[in-house]
Amino acid sequence: MQHHIKDPALADAGKARIEWADRDMPVLASIRERFEAERPLDGLRISACLHVTTETANLMRTLAAGGADCALCASNPLSTQDDVAAALVEHYGIRTYAIKGEDTGTYYAHIDAAIDHRPHITMDDGADVVGRIHAERPEALEDIIGGTEETTTGVIRLKAMAADGALRYPIVSVNDADTKHLFDNRYGTGQSTIDGVIRATNRLIAGRTVVVSGYGWCGRGIAMRASGLGGNVIVCEVDPLRALEAVMDGYRVMPAVEAAAQCDIWVTVTGDINVIDTPMFEALKDGAIVCNSGHFNCEINIAHLRKTATAVREVRPLVEEFTMPDGRLVYLLADGRLVNLACAEGHPASVMDMSFANQALSAEYMATNHASLEPGVYPVPRDIDEAIAALKLATMGVEIDTLTEEQERYLASWQEGTV
Ligand code: ADE
Repeated sequence: MQHHIKDPALADAGKARIEWADRDMPVLASIRERFEAERPLDGLRISACLHVTTETANLMRTLAAGGADCALCASNPLSTQDDVAAALVEHYGIRTYAIKGEDTGTYYAHIDAAIDHRPHITMDDGADVVGRIHAERPEALEDIIGGTEETTTGVIRLKAMAADGALRYPIVSVNDADTKHLFDNRYGTGQSTIDGVIRATNRLIAGRTVVVSGYGWCGRGIAMRASGLGGNVIVCEVDPLRALEAVMDGYRVMPAVEAAAQCDIWVTVTGDINVIDTPMFEALKDGAIVCNSGHFNCEINIAHLRKTATAVREVRPLVEEFTMPDGRLVYLLADGRLVNLACAEGHPASVMDMSFANQALSAEYMATNHASLEPGVYPVPRDIDEAIAALKLATMGVEIDTLTEEQERYLASWQEGTV
């Protein structure tokens, strides 16, 4: 299978949108230019399992410019932008296996097609390719020198594999770079999640009670943006430090069952399962909208909802209405899948610029350093992180001060104290 996409006729529309995103990805563009000259990925096959968006297309162009032979499949059945998939095949020559709305069987067939590409480097968003290779396709391990992982959920899975002694090759945790999670997770998820809720429902946020489960970087971003639009934000957390931070950031914090009774819009971003479960559904306010912006669609117990509902209907695209036995209505967005990618377009290009600069430079790092790396999960080297931050500032026209020699000396000394 050379590619599997919805419709090649969408290619021109996809190309125009990819170019539009590229104009807001100057850091990645500068890496692409260097890659074209230096070809650091020459001779390497890369299999990427990422959300197939305009931003991802620009990453693929960059890897290809560096000499890599790339295959791409979707990292979520609902996040693919079909015009982008078409453009990748028709205009950029990237083998792409992704169709928006693909069923689970097709999703894994697409992952298998990417593994059939016999990658030297895997590039995951959620660790589904790594998981598949280790569990079902171990023959692919022969060619692999290393990998990269984009997201919190994937890094958690990989660290569990490493702790089990199961992980067979080195992987760079792109998510842990400061220029990734501080911006993509916070500002990207913050904006795109609210964007997804609004595009799906066209509901006003002002004056509504918005419940955010999980106060990691994604939850912080969502709470901040919901609050900025006039929502009354309640945070639900299990970690006392994060809960305390949410209180001091000005939000109400309470157990999920209590929050349910007041909830108009509920967003989960915990990375864990059944965060909205039977007791919360039983307490949920009539007409509440529930959705998820965490990586997997396991945070809402949808099976319970489907089993107990007396009626289900789609009232708008990707908005399902469930009638509960007592007559209350509950609305579920995008079947519990990532609302920011299923109902909107994911994070805007400007933050993906930094995330994908980390991906491109981590692939280059792996190409250069794999021989000295044992199987395990590795951080993005600090010099890469700092270089990306400096480049991003430069492209924004922001200048900063540097330490004087006296200040450098002072920081390196211990003799001076109270004067
Ligand atoms: N994850 C979140 N937003 C994304 C985007 N726009 N492209 C690729 N992956 C993403």
